[in-house]
Amino acid sequence: MAKNDAKQKVIDALNKARGDELAAVLQYMSQHYALADADYGVVAAPVKLIAIDEMRHAEMLAERIFELGGIPVSEAGQKARKSQSIDEAMDYDMGLEEKAIEDYNEFAGVCIEARDSISAKLMEQIMAEEQIHLNYFQNIDRHIRELGPAYMAQITGGAPEAAGGPARGFAARQKGGGAQP
Ligand SMILES: [Fe+2]
Ligand SMILES: [Fe+2]
Repeated sequence: MAKNDAKQKVIDALNKARGDELAAVLQYMSQHYALADADYGVVAAPVKLIAIDEMRHAEMLAERIFELGGIPVSEAGQKARKSQSIDEAMDYDMGLEEKAIEDYNEFAGVCIEARDSISAKLMEQIMAEEQIHLNYFQNIDRHIRELGPAYMAQITGGAPEAAGGPARGFAARQKGGGAQP
């Protein structure tokens, strides 16, 4: 494989991943509001933080794409699903994270084939975080199935405070001058 072709394949894989990450940001943000609105604040708060993880992933991919001389895509790979119940949301999210892990494994292979270990390492680093997300959604899903209403009663409340979480951006840093989490 010619060097430029190999590099382009890596850029394409990173961009496909970036489109999926942007879609995940929108999906989890939308769920975070919906779950908080349905009073499942205890689940809404981590979902908000997971959306922020996906934004970090999209940024990390864009930085690497620029390093390789490519242009990062700005369109989400798909539209966010709306009006999901909490169990539908957990089921859907497990599917998203399982697919993400599968895709990152494949993308890591593309990077290795192109002899780009920096990109391959990035794929593995992000993939490990998708596994953490998957574990969380699987836990909630299992609790809902096994414990039912008793568990549902436990995860109510907490919104919007819990869903507010420790998310800090630029404005908070300017005001507080403190370290970023
Ligand atoms: Fe991600
Ligand atoms: Fe994820």
